[in-house]
Amino acid sequence: MENTKQLSIADKYAELQRKNAEALLGGGEKRVEAQHKKGKLTARERVSLLLDEGSFEEIGKFVMHRCKDFGLDKEYYLGDGVITGYGTVAGRLVYVFSQDFTVFGGSLSETYAEKICKIMDLAMQNGAPVIGLNDSGGARIQEGVVSLAGYADIFYRNTLASGVVPQISAIMGPCAGGAVYSPAITDFIMMVENTSYMFVTGPKVVKTVTNEEVTSEELGGASTHSTKSGVTHFAVANELECIQLIKDLLSYMPQNCEEDAPRLPYEATNETREVLDSIIPENPNQPYDMREVIEGIIDEGSFLEVHKNFAENMVVGFARLAGRSIGIVGNQPAVLAGVLDINSSTKAARFVRFCDSFNIPLLVLEDVPGFLPGTDQEWNAIITNGAKLLYAFSEATVPRITVITRKAYGGAYDVMNSKHIGADMNYAWPTAEIAVMGAKGASEIIFKKEIDEAEDSEAKLQEKVEEYTRKFATPYRAAHRGYVDEVIMPSETRQKLIRAFQMLENKVATLPKKKHGNIPL
Ligand code: HXC
Repeated sequence: MENTKQLSIADKYAELQRKNAEALLGGGEKRVEAQHKKGKLTARERVSLLLDEGSFEEIGKFVMHRCKDFGLDKEYYLGDGVITGYGTVAGRLVYVFSQDFTVFGGSLSETYAEKICKIMDLAMQNGAPVIGLNDSGGARIQEGVVSLAGYADIFYRNTLASGVVPQISAIMGPCAGGAVYSPAITDFIMMVENTSYMFVTGPKVVKTVTNEEVTSEELGGASTHSTKSGVTHFAVANELECIQLIKDLLSYMPQNCEEDAPRLPYEATNETREVLDSIIPENPNQPYDMREVIEGIIDEGSFLEVHKNFAENMVVGFARLAGRSIGIVGNQPAVLAGVLDINSSTKAARFVRFCDSFNIPLLVLEDVPGFLPGTDQEWNAIITNGAKLLYAFSEATVPRITVITRKAYGGAYDVMNSKHIGADMNYAWPTAEIAVMGAKGASEIIFKKEIDEAEDSEAKLQEKVEEYTRKFATPYRAAHRGYVDEVIMPSETRQKLIRAFQMLENKVATLPKKKHGNIPL
């Protein structure tokens, strides 16, 4: 009897919802069709693909906009233009908002912003990631300043949540004007190729102000932002890939800054990796791909590269070592000889700070000939930007290990997680060269007089280069001082790192008491 009563209440509720939906969501099918025609999924489809089957709990589905100006009193949609709620991904709680372009172009109203703020507050209070699926024409123009206020309320929460819970932004349609600043504050941005774009001012305004002719795609499409500006960390071919990427990314992260990332089961076995012994070329000036070193060290197939197509002279990404999530920062000798420049420094600094915020240990693979010289770099502030990386490593308190595979020259030696700036363990391969600068440049400076005065200056230079190389182009001087803890064979690297990270598992390190530091921005 009791059951029947409950059922009938449930039925009534369902009926009520259906009526509401019919009254307020008239033309729903057409809206879905319009979205599909643009090659996009609907907001609800995205949520259901992202979350574990049946786990979604929607919050605020009866919310409607309040503005009555400019015809908004004639058109209402349940939930307004955004779907918000919580659910699970691989069994772990996440909060999600999904902007619905079919409702006033996904534009942000006062109530829409309130819905997003509500789930952000819940995410911070309960310590779980926030995932934003963005597809919006920006501030709802009819609402004026209340819509701008709504954006600011979100930006403020993005900032408060930064470093507390992971925040991921998927851009699956337009994201223009001030709206771009919410994703920009979050930890990771991913953009779908051809259907998404991000810019502060669109092509029309650009044309008026600068007279440049540019398409939306050129100005702010996925390929622009993944290669030129670095605004997006990932560019993906379609929405399904985008959603899969969100899930993969989450698997490397903890739920919040108080927790550790999930660990996959691991059984100790023979960890020797002979393949690593033959990666470094005989000729120290010949490039090789640092990704091969990474693949040789980590658990098979576990590398998730971040910012793959931006500042390619630095490789950063997540991986697993003995089932444990780690962040990898590596110089890439295959691009610009792995030199440090403005973009590679800021790229790596941001990644280091994410890992440190969320207790993900860091592995640094070093082969760096120094900082990139030139007016372009100096005038665009390589000093300030290079300092970002130095600062980021120095303040990171997670376990930090460096492996010097080949060159560790000049200031770049200090910057790339040297012992002196707080690295816990530093290893070097026998091929390591740790010196103030390359042998030729160094010899030309310190033996200038002798070389100039020699009968055969070329031969003298060669002799001095060899002398310098014997003395400095090795890891042993640094090892004698303890700046390098051990010189290891490349094939031993995986084993050494597994043990060292295990040894560092309970590391406790605290920074001096302060309100916050002042990273050179
Ligand atoms: C209200 C909007 C809207 C908006 C789009 N729509 N953007 N309604 N406020 N911001 C409505 C359209 O009127 C249209 O309604 C429907 O959404 C779909 O838009 P279309 O233009 O038909 O779609 P499409 O051709 O795909 O073009 C998408 C678009 C374009 C490029 C996003 O709509 C556009 O340029 N919108 C304006 C973008 C903008 O300038 N926003 C303000 C940015 S400033 P109907 O009824 O015809 O279907 C900003 C400030 C934030 O956001 C500041 C924070 C600090």
